[in-house]
Amino acid sequence: MVVTTEKPALLGGTKTFTEALPRYISTSTQETEAAVQVLKKGILSDYIGAAGPFFMGGEQVRNLEAQWADYFHVRHALSVNSATSGLHAAVVAAGVSFGDEVIVPPQTMSATATAVVMANGTPVFVDQQEATCCIDPEAVERAISPRTKAIIAVNLFGGPAQVLRLRELADQHNLILIEDNAQAPAGQHQGLYLGTIGHLGVFSLNCHKTIQCGEGGIVVTNDDRLARRVALVRNHGENAIASENWDEDVDIVGYNYRLTELQAAIASVQLQRLEELTEPRLEIAKALDQGLSEFKALRTAKVDTGDRHVYYTYPIWFDPNQAGMSRDRFVQALKAEGCPVEGRYVRPLYRLPLFEKLKHDGKTIISHPTGICPNAEKAYSETLLATSFIQVPGGIKLVDRFVAAIAKVLAYAEELSNGKEQ
Ligand SMILES: Cc1ncc(COP(=O)(O)O)c(C=O)c1O
Repeated sequence: MVVTTEKPALLGGTKTFTEALPRYISTSTQETEAAVQVLKKGILSDYIGAAGPFFMGGEQVRNLEAQWADYFHVRHALSVNSATSGLHAAVVAAGVSFGDEVIVPPQTMSATATAVVMANGTPVFVDQQEATCCIDPEAVERAISPRTKAIIAVNLFGGPAQVLRLRELADQHNLILIEDNAQAPAGQHQGLYLGTIGHLGVFSLNCHKTIQCGEGGIVVTNDDRLARRVALVRNHGENAIASENWDEDVDIVGYNYRLTELQAAIASVQLQRLEELTEPRLEIAKALDQGLSEFKALRTAKVDTGDRHVYYTYPIWFDPNQAGMSRDRFVQALKAEGCPVEGRYVRPLYRLPLFEKLKHDGKTIISHPTGICPNAEKAYSETLLATSFIQVPGGIKLVDRFVAAIAKVLAYAEELSNGKEQ
């Protein structure tokens, strides 16, 4: 039990972290070495946008994909230049086109839903579960219509959505389940790797993620046809189709979503180091779970047996009534302590101007009024915060100070709430 009489920094007390916390950097000399080897060879990308031996990329790309497929026990892993392009390719591979609906969660990075718009589909937002902020399977079931083609579930913050239940629903209704697994590489649900439970799964390798190659993504699937369609979207499929006389998938527009050889070489090393890079987060999460358990106003992620949360970020659910102050004031006070916390994870996406009145050809095709997803609204405005403290190198040694900062702020709830900062 942390007992404190010390004042919060916002009320004139001493700031907890006066030093800048170090930034998470995942690369090492091994990645440098791998990149140098590619540079020495000079083939920085080895794709050609037409059928033939280079349609599927060069040596490093194929090597990364083989490793990824092996690691996650899937038949196909296709690299792309971001998870955003991977999501777009996955939505197109799922067959989404004009007028088709795709059910998506509200609190996620915007690319989850823009990918649907990019494929000329209509995102239909349904609410999230309060406990996880991941899409609610019951809300999904209620939203399935004759026009529904796919569901996108996001394994948010590194923890699992109810993806097995969603897969069951998708199979029952002949829909494609896409897992947006950008935030949860090596996370698990009931002993299965996240990203591999849906018909398609999409990983991100952008620089904020546990493993990265600057920008990049991977699409996984066990389905040969879906894999082929992703490959067509990735690399000017219209050319490949024409020269091979394929009779299927001729309507697919191909893009340049290709990962370079340099990025693939770096990503290969990062994949080999995935557990090494995940472990410190799990250690900090365990210490935070324990340290924060004494505060009635805070709840941390509950991880079910058989599941594995990999903490892209560490979510905290805040009870303003218990705390005696608002979430925003709590976050403001913690920021003043030098703690890396964020309230308002993301605005429910249907409240972005793009989605509020989604248009095709200048005509509104769907309106999403504020308030359609009450759990998302509540998390956004009152209860959810997240901390990137989980990523701080050597953060395990700082957990006690982080918890003490929280204790201090909560102990002065009344003064903070009355706005008496100095
Ligand atoms: C849930 C989610 N989906 C998609 C993306 C897009 O990833 P990328 O930056 O690789 O395009 C992100 C990136 O932060 C994400 O968090």
